[in-house]
Formats: sequence, C-alpha cells, structure tokens
Amino acid sequence: MPSFTVYKGSESGQVVKSTTTRPELKGDQVLLRVTASGLCGTDLHYHKSEMALGHEGVGIVEELGPACTYLKKGDRVGWGYEHDCCGHCQQCLRGNETFCAERSMYGFADLDQGSMAEGAVWREAFLFKIPDNMSDEVAAPMMCGGATVFNALHQFPIQPTDTVGVMGVGGLGHLAIQFAAKMGCKVVVLSGSDKKKDEAMKLGASEFIATKGAKELKTERPIDRLLVTTSAQPDWSLLGSILAPNASIYPLSVDEGDFKIPYMSILLSGLTIQGSLVASRYIHQRMLAFAALHDIKPILEKFPMSEEGINQAFKKLQDGEMRYRGVMVRE
Ligand SMILES: NC(=O)c1ccc[n+]([C@@H]2O[C@H](COP(=O)([O-])OP(=O)(O)OC[C@H]3O[C@@H](n4cnc5c(N)ncnc54)[C@H](OP(=O)(O)O)[C@@H]3O)[C@@H](O)[C@H]2O)c1
Ligand SMILES: [Zn+2]
Ligand SMILES: [Zn+2]
Repeated sequence: MPSFTVYKGSESGQVVKSTTTRPELKGDQVLLRVTASGLCGTDLHYHKSEMALGHEGVGIVEELGPACTYLKKGDRVGWGYEHDCCGHCQQCLRGNETFCAERSMYGFADLDQGSMAEGAVWREAFLFKIPDNMSDEVAAPMMCGGATVFNALHQFPIQPTDTVGVMGVGGLGHLAIQFAAKMGCKVVVLSGSDKKKDEAMKLGASEFIATKGAKELKTERPIDRLLVTTSAQPDWSLLGSILAPNASIYPLSVDEGDFKIPYMSILLSGLTIQGSLVASRYIHQRMLAFAALHDIKPILEKFPMSEEGINQAFKKLQDGEMRYRGVMVRE
C-alpha cells in the first residue's frame, strides 16, 4: 500500500507533517513522487483545516494502476484543483467538467492528500504532461494560478485588440499580465501601490494604476476585460469609470459575502459579470502549450518541502511579501 508524507493544516494555522496511506492502486490511479508544489492564495483559506494542503503539484510517475493507458513510469506530470468528475453528465461531455455535479475538488474531496507532500495518488485522466522545456518548479504554479487566468482569457474568446485589465499583482495576476500581453492585448495593471510597477511593466503591462486612496480611476483606453485577481473583493463602484461599454468582469478572488456593484451601471454600460473557476482539462493543456511556446513563467521564491519551509512560505504570502509565487521543492 502506498504510504507518503503529506503536510496538513491545523487549528492553530501551523502546517504539520503527517502520513497518508492509500489502498493498492486501482483503475487508472497513478502513484507520484512529488517534486514541486506551488502555494496559491486559496491555500490561505485552508491552513486552519486538518486536511492535506496544496493543489499546484508536479511529480514523477512511480507506479501505474491496471487501467492506465498513456503515462509511463518516469513521466513528469502535474495536477491542479480538480481530481475527478463523473465523465458522463452534460457538463463533462461538453468539456466543462469543472462544473460537473460530481466533481472532486481541493478542499472538498480527497482531503488526505495534496501537493505539499512527498507522494500522491491521482487518476491518470486528471494528470497533465509537463512540456519538456518547462521545469518542475515553473510548472507547479501553472497548475492552478496559470490555468485560472488563462481560462478567463481563453474560454471567453479574447481579441488582440481588447484592452485587458489585471487587478492585483500576485501569483495569479503576474501570470495574467504575461498571458494577456502574449495574446496581443494592451494590458492595464491595477495594484494597491506603486511598488510593483517596474516588474508589471517588464512582464508586459503598458499602463499601471495605483489604486489605494484613489477617489476616481482613469485609464488611457477603457478596459474591455477585467480580471480581478486580488485576494479580497475590490470596491466595485470605483471601477465603472475605467470599463468600456460591454466590458466583462471576471471576479476570480475567493471571498465571502456579497458581490456589490452599482446596479444601473450593469444596464447602462451593458456589463457582463462572468464567474470563472480554474480550467477544464482541455483548456489546461492548451495553457501549458501556450506558456511553453511563449516562455511564460512565474517569478518564483523557492522554499524547501518541509514543515519549516512551508510555514515560512505561508507567512510570506499572508504578509503580502511573496514575489510572486512561492514554490516548495523537494529537498
Ligand atoms: N477563481 C478561481 O478559480 C481561483 C483560482 C485560484 C485562486 N483564486 C483566488 O484568486 C485570488 C488571488 O490568488 P493569488 O494566488 O494570486 O494570491 P496572491 O498571490 O496573494 O495575490 C493577491 C494579490 O491581491 C492584492 N491584495 C493583497 N491583499 C489584499 C487585500 N486585503 N485586498 C485586496 N487586494 C489585496 C495584492 O496585489 P497588489 O499588491 O497588486 O494590490 C496581492 O498580490 C485569491 O483570492 C485566490 O483564492 C481563484
Ligand atoms: Zn460530470
Ligand atoms: Zn489555487
């Protein structure tokens, strides 16, 4: 029976080492040796839960279940937020399995294993081959952060003539700037302060707006699509002045409470508020190929895959000091 170290949340918020044992592999299950794990903003919602943490994993195939067909021992693969779905409902059949009623997702299913770990068992059908020119530590943040922002840009087809706004330059935001710029769009970045301006411009932004304390926002060209990647909801009422007619807003932040926006602005400007959740496997694969082709990479801070390393990374992310994605690597 496969047995491996995992790192779990605990009531105090400290991440602690634990062991998971799984039954012998069945069906298309694959045993992986984990080599890298990203730390996503969503993990901050779970470190006080007694569950295995992490959903941006990369590892090496170690053993294959009897029904596996295309992976082989030694392959480098990654996985993200979704681990399973029914495979036969309408959502699954149209490649929209992130909305399958029987989906298995981080925080809701398979709580005994995550990507902050030394091993994991996942279905072959939910693993992604890593492109040869992409390292394990670069690939890890693409498994949720990269997939999420690429999905918002790709599932709702974008034009190179669109102006894309990215609000919040964190793990997701700094990848969104790169994807949108490589898709040919003008990118306007909105960030709390001026601190991240130089880096945002180097990543492909052509305009940068510091939002803190601003009473009114202005842009050179109104935004057609606004990806909101802040870790909490912004003041939506401030954004009306920078949106183009028929603009779409993609609120990607995980947050509690209600979505509050001046009601008539939706009608008068023909706005679309489009929810978006990670990416289907089809879009996830396209994201990896696009990132590999255009050399889109996260800016990383590396930590050892250990209690100490993971706790340090959580603290840095919580303090707002991560630049821009923390990745735990096997020691
Ligand atoms: N919808 C999905 O499928 C999906 C998938 C993954 C993650 N998420 C969610 O997306 C959000 C971003 O994730 P991430 O991994 O990029 O997090 P992150 O690295 O912490 O980045 C969040 C950014 O938000 C800004 N920020 C920080 N504290 C804030 C506050 N109190 N209020 C408003 N903005 C604040 C900062 O940017 P500036 O300094 O530029 O202001 C920060 O860099 C999280 O809420 C996460 O749970 C959603
Ligand atoms: Zn289904
Ligand atoms: Zn995530």
